Amino acid sequence: MEAKAGFEITLTSGAAWQQGVDVVAFATFGDPAKDPVFKSADQALGGALAEVAVSESFEGKAGQSLVLYTQKKIPAKRVVVIGAGARGDFASSNMRDITAAIAQIANKTLSATVAFVMPQLGANREMTLVQLAAEGIYLGTYKFGRYLTSEEAKRSHSLKSFALLRDAKGGKIGAAQQRQGAAAIARGTTIAAAVNHARDLINEPPAIATPAALAADAQAIAKKHKGTITTTVLDAKKCAELGMGMFLAVGQGSDQEPRFIHMTYKPAKKPKKKVCFIGKGVTFDSGGYSLKPSNAMEDMKIDMSGAAAVISAMDAIATLGSEFEVHALAACCENLVSGRAYKLGDVLKSMDGTTVEINNTDAEGRLTLGDAITYARTKIQPDEMFDFATLTGACMVALGPYTAGVFSDHEPLVRNWLAVAERTGEDMWRLPLTARLREQLKSPIADMRNTGDRFGGAITAGLFLKTFAKDTPWVHVDIAGPASISSPRPSQPKGGTGYAVSTIVEYASKA
Ligand code: BES
Ligand code: MN
Ligand code: ZN
Repeated sequence: MEAKAGFEITLTSGAAWQQGVDVVAFATFGDPAKDPVFKSADQALGGALAEVAVSESFEGKAGQSLVLYTQKKIPAKRVVVIGAGARGDFASSNMRDITAAIAQIANKTLSATVAFVMPQLGANREMTLVQLAAEGIYLGTYKFGRYLTSEEAKRSHSLKSFALLRDAKGGKIGAAQQRQGAAAIARGTTIAAAVNHARDLINEPPAIATPAALAADAQAIAKKHKGTITTTVLDAKKCAELGMGMFLAVGQGSDQEPRFIHMTYKPAKKPKKKVCFIGKGVTFDSGGYSLKPSNAMEDMKIDMSGAAAVISAMDAIATLGSEFEVHALAACCENLVSGRAYKLGDVLKSMDGTTVEINNTDAEGRLTLGDAITYARTKIQPDEMFDFATLTGACMVALGPYTAGVFSDHEPLVRNWLAVAERTGEDMWRLPLTARLREQLKSPIADMRNTGDRFGGAITAGLFLKTFAKDTPWVHVDIAGPASISSPRPSQPKGGTGYAVSTIVEYASKA
């Protein structure tokens, strides 16, 4: 929805302190006095850098940064040093925050050209770090500005080019590395663009990011990848024909018609397996008649973050290519209050025939997802399926705001998934599907009810979904916490984070 700023990112070589750029930057791991790159920069600047570091108490800790105007002691106008913390604590994915912070400083100082000395962390990690560095530049300069009207807000980025220097000394770069570097940068750029696109969808006001708007977005992505992606959109009538009684009940209180989105990516060769990603797409969650208090409702436009993630990820998956047949599903609707809305005490019939008594209309996500899971299981019959949902406040109580809860009874699948998340740096933690809690979902008048007690709320939500997943290998990811943030970090400005996009893409796309 937002125009993308393009930067030129290159992997190159050159002596760092002789670069005629606006900003020359590097990362320092802990004590700067012990860092050879810091020392060589300090030497080139006649000791000025160490002096500033002392006066600003810069200790190379993660999150710290130092900006020095060089006064022509070297050709670069400014030196920027980013604290990276102890080398032993450094995960590759931290790289995103480093280049994000540098890109932000560059824009703030109206700089156009940056040369950044890549940290030396071993040859095997080099290209991964190049990819993550590229991601960080795009993620860090993301801004949802389309409703800001001041001149300052409308000003475009000053940053134009970002050179990644292989080391400070300017050791030569071979043709193979150049090629690998360009590929890693392209991959990082593609993934970050998908993450930023998901952020746009999440940050749009709920009057704009309606079920129909999300469907139009999924169709635009299919158009862009004509030949590999097709998008089918089911309206309320089609969903009724399929018997999606739970999904339709949630949306029936709104004047916005629900949309069930189904995107399919097909590889040129015979697919190795069929994978399905399902996203919760409640475009606004008022709670329904179990009405949320105003403060809890304020941020509920983000309740379609799962849908935003799976839709956006498809774009990157098609660009990068996959050996799998990949499906993305999003059951999109609004949970509102009106004369037509569903009520407490209603009994709904789900697509698989299960009847569900409603004891809380605010537990709407599991109802929409239950039917989406049945659709996946019966219409697509995937080898594996994953769902992503801002499902429960209880998951945030358990794990805090930055970590997603992961639920599954399929050991190999969940291990594989968590290993991919570990690589992309998206914080995920497994929680159990405690069978005994299933009792809480018993209803005297229907096959089950939609909510249990307060304790274990993230688990009972997972157990509810499991009813519909049945024997299909399935992983449920509760992203209520990390889908949006109020305390930003360089690679994640405030608002929608685009969480799960990079792990989905990493899981499904060719390396
Ligand atoms: N969309 C909410 C969950 C949520 C809460 C997401 C906070 C992001 C931030 C979900 O539909 C919901 O309302 N869940 C209820 C479930 C309860 C009624 C069993 C909740 O968590 O309170
Ligand atoms: Mn709700
Ligand atoms: Zn919700």
